[in-house]
Amino acid sequence: MNQEEKIKYLLEEIYNNSNFNFDKSPYPEVTLTYAQTLDGFISGMPNTPPLLISGKESMLMTHCLRNKNDAIMIGIGTLLNDNPQLNVRQLSGFNNGGDVRNPQPVILDTKLRFPLNCKLLNNYKEYKLNVEQKINGYEKLTEIKPPIIFVAEGLYDLKKAKILKDYGIKINEIKCNGSQLDISKVLEILKSTYNIRNVMVEGGAQVIRSFLMNSQIIQHIIITIGPLYIGNGVKALGFGDIEKNSLPHLEHVQSLTLGQDIIVIGKPTMS
Ligand SMILES: NC(=O)c1ccc[n+]([C@@H]2O[C@H](COP(=O)([O-])OP(=O)(O)OC[C@H]3O[C@@H](n4cnc5c(N)ncnc54)[C@H](OP(=O)(O)O)[C@@H]3O)[C@@H](O)[C@H]2O)c1
Repeated sequence: MNQEEKIKYLLEEIYNNSNFNFDKSPYPEVTLTYAQTLDGFISGMPNTPPLLISGKESMLMTHCLRNKNDAIMIGIGTLLNDNPQLNVRQLSGFNNGGDVRNPQPVILDTKLRFPLNCKLLNNYKEYKLNVEQKINGYEKLTEIKPPIIFVAEGLYDLKKAKILKDYGIKINEIKCNGSQLDISKVLEILKSTYNIRNVMVEGGAQVIRSFLMNSQIIQHIIITIGPLYIGNGVKALGFGDIEKNSLPHLEHVQSLTLGQDIIVIGKPTMS
């Protein structure tokens, strides 16, 4: 087996051994995953270029995880800072007719700050154009699904929403009592409206924090630890203290090394 096949096999084992019951759950199966430095940072200081924490082998694992999941969720902070593509471009088969798939991007974006020139939108538009106009080689392209954006009722620009909807972007309005979207409601809609069976949550810090503080909705946590210190930056759980009793610990823990990185895998529990 090559490295990609080994990683796919490992992930298969993790998901097969999960006792998650999709039919009985109101939510999809959730995997929370992120990469951190040895001193617990997931990125450099805000508004600085994205920091490469994972080596190529664990990056490959991230792309295998994306391939495994129907959807990939990030907060708007990550979209604005990193302008990610959230695709599976490192897998063999990508854009050459191979048996791989991109996950559907999901963005938590109360005020619809989603930039009209981001890679997620541009890539989707380009893919659609290629397919609609049957441009040479279009049959072999790996499908790009339109981003699903969650916004808060009354807090976003309706004109901008119309522009995005005209491109095919899905916009879902949620009633928002506090300052952030209710992630249980988001997950319910992903399952009931979009038939999303599993979703990986890729950060950033505030989103990781929201999920860890509602850890009963997470089935798997997969953390990559890169062998570097950076001294300062954004901590995995963002800024501000959290009462330790509101955070889980992990059970059924496995660890492995991929290249120079350590991967920690477990199931969160509050008991
Ligand atoms: N190392 C890694 O694995 C990794 C992965 C991803 C990102 N990152 C890093 O993380 C940093 C960004 O983190 P961040 O904390 O600034 O942004 P974030 O977690 O990506 O997004 C946070 C924003 O999402 C919106 N949001 C809406 N509902 C939310 C909810 N229920 N919970 C949390 N957020 C919600 C809020 O903005 P609105 O109020 O406008 O809706 C909030 O400010 C970047 O530097 C990026 O490089 C690292």
